[in-house]
Amino acid sequence: MSEKPMILTDQNSGESVELPINRGTEGEPTFEIKAVPSKLGYFTYDPGYAATASCTSKITFIDGGMGILRYRGYPIEQLAEQSDFLEVAFLLMNGELPNRAEYDEFTAEITYHSMVHEKLNTFISGFHYDAHPMAMMAGVVGSLAAFYHAKLDMSDPGHRKLAAMRMISKMPTIAAACYRHHMGWPTAYPPNGLNYCERFLHMMFSVPAETYEVSSVAARAFDLLFILHADHEQNASTSTVRLVGSTGANPYACVAAGISALWGPAHGGANEQVLKMLEQIGDVSNVPKFVAKAKDRDDPFRMMGFGHRVYKNFDPRATIIREAAHEVLSELGQSDPLMDLALELERIALEDEYFIEKKLYPNVDFYSGIIYRALGIPVSMFTVMFAIARTVGWVSQWLEQSDNPTRIGRPRQVYAGETERNYVDIDQR
Ligand code: CMC
Repeated sequence: MSEKPMILTDQNSGESVELPINRGTEGEPTFEIKAVPSKLGYFTYDPGYAATASCTSKITFIDGGMGILRYRGYPIEQLAEQSDFLEVAFLLMNGELPNRAEYDEFTAEITYHSMVHEKLNTFISGFHYDAHPMAMMAGVVGSLAAFYHAKLDMSDPGHRKLAAMRMISKMPTIAAACYRHHMGWPTAYPPNGLNYCERFLHMMFSVPAETYEVSSVAARAFDLLFILHADHEQNASTSTVRLVGSTGANPYACVAAGISALWGPAHGGANEQVLKMLEQIGDVSNVPKFVAKAKDRDDPFRMMGFGHRVYKNFDPRATIIREAAHEVLSELGQSDPLMDLALELERIALEDEYFIEKKLYPNVDFYSGIIYRALGIPVSMFTVMFAIARTVGWVSQWLEQSDNPTRIGRPRQVYAGETERNYVDIDQR
C-alpha cells in the first residue's frame, strides 16, 4: 500500500496541495514541495537549508541524534579500525568494498597519477611565500582544468572517472608543494614505492640534504584521519561541489569551489581555529572564562570544535580522534599541554547547562589538530589535510550526481528591498 501524501492547506484561500512522501532506506522521511509554488503560489523559506534535503544519495548516512556515521552502510568505527584510506576511497566512489584485484588496480592507478605537470610547480612558485595554503590550494586545483583539459568531456563516464582519480591522487602532491614553497624547499616528486600517506609525508618533509625515513606511526595516524574526514554527506563544501556541478562546470572547478567553502571557520577551517583558541586559552585555569565567553550572546566568540548542524550527540569521529591523539602522543613519546587543555575544556563544557541544553559536543575538528601538531604539520596546513581527505567525498558525490543529472541548483529568495522607483539623474540626488 502506497503511503498517503502530506496535505498542505492555505488557510487563507482554502486551496490544498498533496505533497508526496519520500522515504530513503534510513533517516527521516521528506515530503516533496515541488508542486507548492504552482498550486499555492508560495515558495518555501529555509535559510541555511536546515530543513531541506537537496538530493538523494547512496553514499553516506548520518543519524545525528544517535551519533551514527556510515559510509555505504559500513560503520565509521569499523572502517577506522579495519580499513585503509584508499580502500575507503574505492568504497565511497564505487559503492562496494574492492576485492583484492580491484584494490591493487585502484591503488596502482592512484599511485600512477600522483605526479603533477611540471608547469604547475611554476604556477605555485608565483604565490607569495606566506600565502595561506588554502588560498593556494583553491587556485591550484581550479587551474587543473587548464593543465588536463584534453579529457574533460563530462558526458563521457571515463573522463569523469579519470578526473576524479587524478584529484584524489594529486591532492597530496599539490598540498606538499604549497608547503615546500612556503618553506623555500625544492620540489619533491612523489616516490611511488610508498603508499598514499607515506608518499605524502615524504613529499612534505624530505629535504635533499638528508635521508628521510617515513614514520609508520605518522603514516598510520594520517590514514586514520583521512578515513574519518573522507565524506560527510551534504555538508557545506560538498553541497557547494554539487551546486557548482549542477551547472555542468568541470570537476576541477567544482572541487576548487569545495575547497573554498571548506576553508571557512564554521566548516573545515575550524581545526586551525581550535588550535589558535587553545593557545589563546593558554592554561586550564582560564577555561571557565572562555566557556563564559562562548555562552555570552553579546560576545561573538564561539567554542571552536564544538557543535554541529546534524550531530546532537557525540560526533563519532571526535571520539575516535580523541583516542588516537592519546595513542599518537604516547607512541611518539610526546606530551602536549594543549591536549590536557582540550580534555579539560571538553569536561567543563559537557557539564555546563548551556552546552547540555544546546546539545553542543566536540566535533571532528576538536582533537584533530593535536595529532597534526604532534606530527609536525603547521597550523596553517590543518585545513589542507581535511581537504586532501574530503576530496574523496567531493568527487564521489560529484560522480553520483553526474551519473544521474538533476536540474541546475537554483534557490529562491524572499525579496526585502525597495519596490519599483524611478531613476534620478546624478545632479538631482
Ligand atoms: N559555541 C557556543 N555556542 C554555540 C556553538 C559554539 N561552538 N555552536 C552553536 N552554538 C549555539 C548558537 O549560538 C545557537 O544558540 P542560540 O540558539 O541561543 O542562538 C545554538 O547553539 C545553535 O547554533 P547554530 O549556529 O544555529 O547551529 P548551526 O547548526 O547553524 O551551526 C556550527 C553549526 C558547526 C556552524 C556551529 O556549531 C559552530 O559555529 N561551531 C564552531 C565551529 C566549528 O567547530 N565548526 C566545525 C563543524 S564540524 C566539521 C566541519 O563541518 O567541517
